[in-house]
Amino acid sequence: MNRSLDGNYWEERYQAQDMPWEKGEASPGLVDFLAAHAGLKRGAVCVPGCGTGHDVRAWAGAGFDAFGYDIAPSAIQLAKERTAAAGLKARFGLDDFLKDPPPFLFDWIFEHTLFCAIDPRDREDYVRAVLRWLKPDGNYLAVNYLIPDETGPPFGTTREELMKRFSPQFELLSEWVPRSYSNRTGLELMLWWRRRKAEHR
Ligand SMILES: C[S@@+](CC[C@H](N)C(=O)[O-])C[C@H]1O[C@@H](n2cnc3c(N)ncnc32)[C@H](O)[C@@H]1O
Repeated sequence: MNRSLDGNYWEERYQAQDMPWEKGEASPGLVDFLAAHAGLKRGAVCVPGCGTGHDVRAWAGAGFDAFGYDIAPSAIQLAKERTAAAGLKARFGLDDFLKDPPPFLFDWIFEHTLFCAIDPRDREDYVRAVLRWLKPDGNYLAVNYLIPDETGPPFGTTREELMKRFSPQFELLSEWVPRSYSNRTGLELMLWWRRRKAEHR
């Protein structure tokens, strides 16, 4: 593995239309979560690595103040166009989730195929970024991709790794295997975490 994810890697994939992750719809697990929890207190949601914005639009359509961030300008452009075409309100920013400061602290962060897209050596930075962008008692909802792949993207992970990385700072509220896109059935695990007010590291 090399640092090929640096630079314009993602933008070049959008420009080449080499986007196998682009399913034309929001994560089925997210859609079901929002339908099953219609009474959730509304607030601000951050979707890092939002791509063309399907998940951002699902949160916006459910009444949340939805924000999407991505490092690829083409993704942000498409996300804005598709959100306007859908008649929904959401905001998008060209930001590096791992490096940039948040515009404010969010009530929710929704993870879907960013953790598996970054270099695994940057995963500690990812956890630090979630802590930087989330309110002290905020929710971190993740659709994790449990594949064995060590070369990627996508790079695999395990439930064990996720517990080790997140449980020191987050309390696990719930976990389940969601409905998925057909090629990911049985390979995803949803984890709903709430950030601990007092971190034990
Ligand atoms: C596999 S794609 C998934 C896109 C979207 N979540 C989806 O499921 O359709 C990964 C996305 O993360 C973006 N990305 C990669 N590294 C990022 C970073 N450090 N900050 C923000 N976005 C990033 C890429 O540009 C790409 O759009």
